[in-house]
Amino acid sequence: MRGKRVLITGGAGFVGCNAARYFGTRNWRVTVLDDLSRDGTEQNLHWLRDGTSFDFERVDIRERAAVERVFSERRYDAVIHLAAQVAVTTSVTDPRTDFMINALGTFNLLDAVRRHRPEAVFIFASTNKVYGKIEGARYQLSGSRYAYADRPYGIGEEQALDFLSPYGCSKGAADQYTLDFARIYGIPATAFRQSCIYGTRQFGIEDQGWVAWFTIASRLGRPITIFGDGKQVRDVLFVDDLVRAYEAAIVAPDKIAGQAFNIGGGPGQLLSLIDLVDILEKRLGRKIPLRFDDWRPGDQRVYISDIRKLERVLGWKPEVSVADGVAQLDEWVQRNEAAFATPAAAQKPAVKVASAEPALPAA
Ligand SMILES: NC(=O)c1ccc[n+]([C@@H]2O[C@H](COP(=O)([O-])OP(=O)(O)OC[C@H]3O[C@@H](n4cnc5c(N)ncnc54)[C@H](O)[C@@H]3O)[C@@H](O)[C@H]2O)c1
Repeated sequence: MRGKRVLITGGAGFVGCNAARYFGTRNWRVTVLDDLSRDGTEQNLHWLRDGTSFDFERVDIRERAAVERVFSERRYDAVIHLAAQVAVTTSVTDPRTDFMINALGTFNLLDAVRRHRPEAVFIFASTNKVYGKIEGARYQLSGSRYAYADRPYGIGEEQALDFLSPYGCSKGAADQYTLDFARIYGIPATAFRQSCIYGTRQFGIEDQGWVAWFTIASRLGRPITIFGDGKQVRDVLFVDDLVRAYEAAIVAPDKIAGQAFNIGGGPGQLLSLIDLVDILEKRLGRKIPLRFDDWRPGDQRVYISDIRKLERVLGWKPEVSVADGVAQLDEWVQRNEAAFATPAAAQKPAVKVASAEPALPAA
């Protein structure tokens, strides 16, 4: 007999399909909800069908009635809410759609949980973008990367919220609604403020998913444009480690209810743009043609998550090293090179790669 039931919104996306595979192979009954708006989602579903049993709901989370129906038909023990408009650039050109998906869509889900299944653990995939530019943090150059001069553990949850960009606002609103629904309605809900997540099944595009996009572009032999000096650094987390953290949260609802957690690779898993180029060149055995362009406005030199709260509360820590993670991603890209030759993402004219988590590129 199968165990508890989890609803994964955005379950055909990068993080979502990895989560669906993880839970589906661990005795969970999985429902994947997605509107399949993102390139690569059909391929992810196809991959998922091969070896994982799950129900699929093609639903747009902006549609309240459709979300209601999903909750009235099955009783979920946990909801991992990943469905989102994910690119900061898109949020700037179309802020209304961004708001409708990220803010209203999350509200629709929370409200359905409140009325149908308030016991369900609710995990919201928030973003480090809720902290904005982190005014006041000082940084310095340290070899191939920038580093914080005054935050040895990175940015903690006590950092003031400072929503920047429509994406920051819509995700930030959803983050605050999530925490408030825990306080007001007693839902065991948590916001995971994710830094840069990377891994297999990530159809990275120039505006979102830079680690995957660099890897894909370099395999396809396309030039890469780096905005700035390439020494901007992020703490990167392999997707399997993130999914393990979701599981740790789901089995400890009392510990996470109403809490926000910063999650990324932390100070132990850092990667600058040129670090990644270096790793990929070694794997490819050739130089990758690079073009350098001006810094993008507001591009942060550094973002590093302080992950000590999550480590303390859930006993979780990252396990996949940057070297292993990039190797897994690159091997997946190699095995699927043909698939990248066709999607719209790979057909963009020049590979104008956004810098790591800059002002405008996405989470
Ligand atoms: N990947 C990262 O580095 C990162 C960092 C911080 C936060 N996040 C957050 O994590 C979550 C997952 O990110 P991802 O990288 O897997 O992105 P993704 O784009 O691969 O997945 C998002 C999924 O949501 C679906 N979707 C979009 N609009 C929808 C709608 N209206 N209704 C239903 N489904 C819809 C898309 O089809 C896609 O499958 C997102 O909420 C994102 O904001 C990701």
